[in-house]
Amino acid sequence: MNAAPPLMLAPLAGFTDAPFRLLCSQGGAARVYTEMASAAGLAHGSGPTLRLLDTMPGEATVHAQIFGNNEDDIAAATRIVASLKRFAAIDLNTGCPMPRIRAEGSGSALLESPEKIHRMLRAMKAESGGTPITLKTRPGPRPSQENMLEIVACAEEAGVSEIALHARFASRAHGGPPLLDKLAECVKAAKVPVIGNGGVVDRASCEAMAATGVAGIMIGRAALGDPWIFRRLAAPEGEAGDFPDAFETFARHVGLVKEFAAMTNAAHPDIQPVDVDAYVSARFRLHLYRYFAGMRGAAAMRREMNGISSLAGAEAAVAGLAGLRTVS
Ligand SMILES: Cc1cc2nc3c(=O)[nH]c(=O)nc-3n(C[C@H](O)[C@H](O)[C@H](O)COP(=O)(O)O)c2cc1C
Repeated sequence: MNAAPPLMLAPLAGFTDAPFRLLCSQGGAARVYTEMASAAGLAHGSGPTLRLLDTMPGEATVHAQIFGNNEDDIAAATRIVASLKRFAAIDLNTGCPMPRIRAEGSGSALLESPEKIHRMLRAMKAESGGTPITLKTRPGPRPSQENMLEIVACAEEAGVSEIALHARFASRAHGGPPLLDKLAECVKAAKVPVIGNGGVVDRASCEAMAATGVAGIMIGRAALGDPWIFRRLAAPEGEAGDFPDAFETFARHVGLVKEFAAMTNAAHPDIQPVDVDAYVSARFRLHLYRYFAGMRGAAAMRREMNGISSLAGAEAAVAGLAGLRTVS
């Protein structure tokens, strides 16, 4: 039997910033992805977009992901990302189903035109200075319009090193079971390695995806609030060892967010600094629920902590959370 495929953190806009990626790296992710960064934003010098490409020491192999709707922006963004020399590959997003992204012709709207995906990947390849180019895609826009094999052929012709398939049609967004038969078909047809993605939440779903022959498995939402999932699923059943509990992990997460806020402000003296109080408290509220959902007292805790608006408040709340262990 082949070795188990490595487990990776999927790109999740709004979530997979450097602190969370570092936490998942510590949790056993073999590779992590940046949130999708707008090619137009990068091409036009947007500070917040540039910050999405900040990394922290200790992260696993990082791939940068960009999205866009025209070759010029995509080419310029690829040049900028490659010049940072901190990414092992640059990935093109052709799977995002968000209406705002689709409306501008980016993300999964590109699935309607494999020809355009080909042109964009060619543009990336020409500007990447040798950094590998990869594609994250789907079986097609909708079940009545499956065009995965055409997209795979276009991507390979353009010179991609790898393809990640989120095994759900774009019309399903992020819902429903992954189409493992499509994944197996993609693995069989592609000459480059295929990474599988969609619906991996536990050992059974991970093993089912591994059985398709994928070269790696990307885990998205199941890593939120559970960065140790990678190590747990990679170890033989019952042999993963002990992990810090949700209280300790969340405290560590908030600490990394604080560290990152200082780092990113120091790294970009020329762009508007992040407001540390606003940033840390927003990340605190965003992730809090993920760590404690389902625990006894979680709803009350959330109500109480929703008002946190400063770094000091977040740190005091984290210290106070330890006391809640008794009700968990
Ligand atoms: C909140 C959220 C943000 C996402 N952001 C991105 C993104 O920036 N780039 C991307 O390629 N996919 C993005 N995705 C899709 C995920 O990478 C992944 O393909 C999807 O969640 C399926 O994997 P899962 O079932 O393991 O969560 C996002 C999904 C969610 C739920």
